[in-house]
Amino acid sequence: MLIAGNWKMFKGPDEAGAFCRALRDADLPDDVDVVVCPPYVSLEAAVQTLAGTEVGVFAQNCHWELEGAFTGEISAPMLHELGVYGTLVGHSERRQWFGETDETVAQRVRTALAQGLHVIACVGESEAEREAGETDAVLRRQVGVLEADENLVIAYEPVWAIGTGKTATPEMAQQAHETIKSVLDLPVLYGGSVKPDNAAELMSQPAVDGALVGGASLDVESFAAICRAASL
Ligand code: 13P
Repeated sequence: MLIAGNWKMFKGPDEAGAFCRALRDADLPDDVDVVVCPPYVSLEAAVQTLAGTEVGVFAQNCHWELEGAFTGEISAPMLHELGVYGTLVGHSERRQWFGETDETVAQRVRTALAQGLHVIACVGESEAEREAGETDAVLRRQVGVLEADENLVIAYEPVWAIGTGKTATPEMAQQAHETIKSVLDLPVLYGGSVKPDNAAELMSQPAVDGALVGGASLDVESFAAICRAASL
């Protein structure tokens, strides 16, 4: 099981340091891999504070070139230099607000993996796509541009469940994860309003290999509770 906390645009370096100090002291299960994904400016504080622990630090995105004229972007070697272990790619907020496409996601994933980063690549259908019966096709398209890799994990995050308090039912998650695994046989995390009180049921589905947590990862106690719920 892997539990990753995506902080999105929350927690500057001071808050990140305080969170990671508290996480170091939290009751985390040994059989669950735990990852936090701070904003770029807080990565160094997180890496330093979590040094020597089992908690991994991931970025939230990574460019497909190693360097160049790409204002506002960050490359894999830069993340490596900071001691960052991996990166998210293709989060639906990147696709929705920042023009990320299946092709740019695939390029970013390829480079990050080639540069030795672990990658959580995010996919998921919108509400309109689900209502139109297109969930299966959308997932096959989004996952179909990626290639299997031992350092790649997929996160299934239905867009309508992100930050809405609406969670996919365990059966919906199971079905979507089966579709994804039929295209690429990789671990698949569920994301979308995962909370301490719904985590265990979602994680009990055979095709659910962990969770990508947004809002509930911002509080150490609720994040640690989700990690414990994922433990066997
Ligand atoms: P919430 O857990 O806040 O719904 O966010 C999910 C998410 O987008 C994680 O990447």
